[in-house]
This record gives sequence, C-alpha cells and structure tokens, in this order.
Amino acid sequence: MTTATAQQVESAARELLAGGVVAFATETVYGLGANAEDARAVQAIYQLKGRPAGHPLIVHVSTLASARYWGRLGRVGEALASAFWPGPLTLIVLRHPAAPAYACGDEQTVGLRCPSHPLAQALLKAFEAQGGHGVAAPSANRFGGVSPTTAAHVRTDFGDRVTVLDGGPSAVGLESTIVDVSRGFATILRPGDISAGQINDVLLDSGLDTLREGPAHTCPDTGTESVDQPRRPRVSGSMAAHYAPTATLELVAPAQLPARLTHWQNRGKRVACCVLTVNVTQADHVEQASADPAQYGRRLYAMLRGFDEDGIEVILIEQPPTGQQWAAINDRLGRAQTGSGKATKGSSRD
Ligand code: TXA
Ligand code: MG
Repeated sequence: MTTATAQQVESAARELLAGGVVAFATETVYGLGANAEDARAVQAIYQLKGRPAGHPLIVHVSTLASARYWGRLGRVGEALASAFWPGPLTLIVLRHPAAPAYACGDEQTVGLRCPSHPLAQALLKAFEAQGGHGVAAPSANRFGGVSPTTAAHVRTDFGDRVTVLDGGPSAVGLESTIVDVSRGFATILRPGDISAGQINDVLLDSGLDTLREGPAHTCPDTGTESVDQPRRPRVSGSMAAHYAPTATLELVAPAQLPARLTHWQNRGKRVACCVLTVNVTQADHVEQASADPAQYGRRLYAMLRGFDEDGIEVILIEQPPTGQQWAAINDRLGRAQTGSGKATKGSSRD
C-alpha cells in the first residue's frame, strides 16, 4: 500500500498523543514524530535516532495560526510563513517562554514547519483536533545517515519499532530550507527547495530587508566554532559531515571522472558513477542523473541508499552545476562526501 488510510491517520494521531513515536511522509523527507509537549516521547526520538541530546527538533504544525502557539514569528517570519506555508520551509523563531523547551534543545528559539504533504497535514490536523499543539519530528533516519524519502527507507533504519504512515515517495526529496528569523532579519541556515531568490522576492515585496549572510557552516558540536563567537542556533545538518552513505563518496569534476574510476577499479572496489554529462560504461553501476535540479533532488537520497544496499564501496558523483537551483544539492553532496566511507574508513559516527 502506498497511502495510509484515514483510519490509520486517526489512530496514528492517538498514538502520538499517548506518547508514541510515529514516522510519517512529508513533501521533503519522512519525519520521526512525537508529541512536542511530551518530554518522554521527545526523549524516545533522540534514543531511536541515536541523536546527541541538545540538537533541537523541528516542531510541525498544520497552520500558521497553530505555529503562533509556539513562538513569535515577527514581521519577517509572518511574511515568509504567509508566502511559503504549507511548504518546505522551516522558520527558527523566538520561542514563547511558556512553550515547552524539551523539543527545542533548551534553545530560546523554536524551529517551526508547516508541511504541505496531504498525509502530514491530515495527521497534524487530527492531532490538533485531539488537543495536541505540535509534532516534533527530525528526519526519520539514524543520526548522520541519509534521510528517508520512502516508507521502505524508514523501515530499513527502524524495522517495525515505529508505525510508519506511508505517503509514497517524497516529492522534494531534500530537507526543508531553514531560515532563522529570530533576530529580526532572515538568514538561511540550511538551503533547500525554497531558494534564496524566492525568499528575497517575498522580503522585498513586504518592504523588509533581504537575506543576510548565514553563519559559516559550523556548529558548536563540531568543535570548530570559537568560544568568543556569539552563541548560534545548532543545526546538526550544518555539521560538515552529515547525510552520509556508508560507501566512500567523491565529488569529481567531469574531466577527472574516468581517471578516478580506473583508480578505484584497479584497487578492486565496486564503484558506482552518477553522471550528468560524462559517458561512462564500465562502472558496476551507472546512474544517469537528471539535469533538472528538482528531479535530481527528488532522486538523490534513494540513489545513495540504493548504492549502500547493493554493496557499492565507492560512489563517484560528477560535480553538478553551481547556482541557486543547485544550492541544496551541492550542500548535501558536500556533507555526504565529508561524512562518507564508514565502511572503508571505520568511522565511529553512526
Ligand atoms: O524537511 C525537514 O525539515 C524534515 C522534515 C521531517 O520536516 N525535518 C528535518 O529535521 O530535516 P532534522 O531534525 O533532521 O533537521 C532539522 C535541523 C536540525 O539540524 C536541527 O538542529 C535544526 O534543524 N533546528 C531545529 N530547531 C532549531 C532551532 N531552534 N535553532 C536552530 N536549529 C534548529
Ligand atoms: Mg536530519
């Protein structure tokens, strides 16, 4: 079955309110949800994921009105939410002091997202109708791994330990754009399907300042942020190594790809190539990627997971074009390259 029934949605909402963990489809990636107002349920997510304590979770709500329960969006947040919600945008806003901090890594801010996927909407509406206020949900993968874009991916990571609401393959396939608006101006913390250009158009139309440069991609957890810098929100997706497959992943300029393939094949490795323009035939697997960034993004995580399942040891990816439409893809590929190769390098990260 590819889409959960209304009955399954109702029962999943009840399970959430009773303190359970439920994975569900969204338009970006599948989320691993728990009642954001239930400290034990939130704790269960951290345990299941193997996520370090203190990495805040995003709280999912069905409408802009329900988002206001959690925090003050301010003029910038209200403008962006009105333009892009429901949709693949997460806003980091100042949390109301009374709103529970369990899901927010004890930050004074809260990440809010109103997903557009009909199944996520139905679940959140049913949850709110039964008295809930928000579902904390990180991507439904083990920490540091590749985000799931199908129900089968979630089952690969968690087996039958969680209920999964299947809504078919995620249409976007990459995690939401995260914009911090908690300081009265907008900064992109994680690029996604909604581009800087689209955000700036809305800000300009609303008579607001355009995007400011984001923090360098560092966070306290990597140990690369110096202590005298102002405290910044933690985005685990901003760690240099994240979204990583088990195989060694190399981003390669088109002209170098044949030589890298020979290099690894001479060492007896099983190699997959993901190409845009280069003609490769002799790899163990050749994936002809789409030149359309939307299609490329939709397919990327399923491709990386598929390579791991097939026992591929090295993934050679032809460097995609630069430019706004490719920003999220290049961001994830860069992190995947840094964190990849658990099988060959014996990294301790899970
Ligand atoms: O598309 C998405 O955003 C998916 C779907 C399930 O909604 N969720 C997702 O969650 O990607 P997660 O936890 O895998 O990534 C969210 C990122 C994390 O890196 C977290 O640290 C950051 O958002 N985040 C959450 N709340 C924050 C806050 N208050 N301040 C700074 N960063 C925050
Ligand atoms: Mg994640």
